[in-house]
Amino acid sequence: MSNITPAEHLAEVLSRFEDAPDSRLAEIMKCAIRHMHEFVLEVGLTREEWFAGMKALADIGHMCDEKRQEFILLSDTLGVSMLVEMINQMGAEGTTEPTVFGPFHVEGATPRQMGDSIVVDAMDADEPLTILGEVSSLGGGPIEGATLDVWQAASNGFYDVQDSRQTPLNMRGVFTTGADGGYEVRTVRPVSYPVPDDGPAGALLHATGRHNWRPAHVHFVVSAPGHKTVITHLFDSESDFLDSDVVFGVRDSLIVDMNGGRCDYDFVLEPTA
Ligand code: BEZ
Ligand code: FE
Repeated sequence: MSNITPAEHLAEVLSRFEDAPDSRLAEIMKCAIRHMHEFVLEVGLTREEWFAGMKALADIGHMCDEKRQEFILLSDTLGVSMLVEMINQMGAEGTTEPTVFGPFHVEGATPRQMGDSIVVDAMDADEPLTILGEVSSLGGGPIEGATLDVWQAASNGFYDVQDSRQTPLNMRGVFTTGADGGYEVRTVRPVSYPVPDDGPAGALLHATGRHNWRPAHVHFVVSAPGHKTVITHLFDSESDFLDSDVVFGVRDSLIVDMNGGRCDYDFVLEPTA
């Protein structure tokens, strides 16, 4: 009798999923297992290396609580979050490109009037910026009643939820377009900032010679009745790290001029069928 081969071993593992009641779960698990077996074979993984990997995953779990989601950070820094957005959010040609959501969005930000500022806590380093333009429908006109949920890090590089010195909901606001589809958000020029590196995801970045910085950006979720919601950012064309964003979120179409205190950008949404 000959020894069982890795291929026979994989086939046996996969066969145990034949009676799974949830066929989508079975499909996902079988594919993940196939890739994991392939990965172990390809790199010739040692037992010590596999245990180190499992310990790292356990450490990541221990780092998670209501405020800190280290698994999301790992997914972001490995480019998986961006890939999931690419295949789930990508709209038709001509619509605003999506990018990562990130962990710092807060539901229920303050509704604001068009032209209002999102700055609650002014800082010495603030450089005033107005972001303005139109929300329109692909192949159609301006959209009335579109909402723009906007958030960004303060000039010290921290979001309000990371920084107890800031007033809750600082640098956030929800704006709704009028009949002309126009929007205008007063804010400050965004700064580049490091994602947290005091946990296992950060340790992995540094162990592999990577930095933990994001280029300067402002986050937007733009939605309107009858249209696909787009989760995106606008990036400052003069920022560092545009070519090495730690979470791989930069897209050329989202890099904009923020000089002179003004940034013009039109959002284009895709109508739903
Ligand atoms: C952000 O832009 O807020 C962000 C995205 C991914 C990881 C960390 C932060
Ligand atoms: Fe951000």
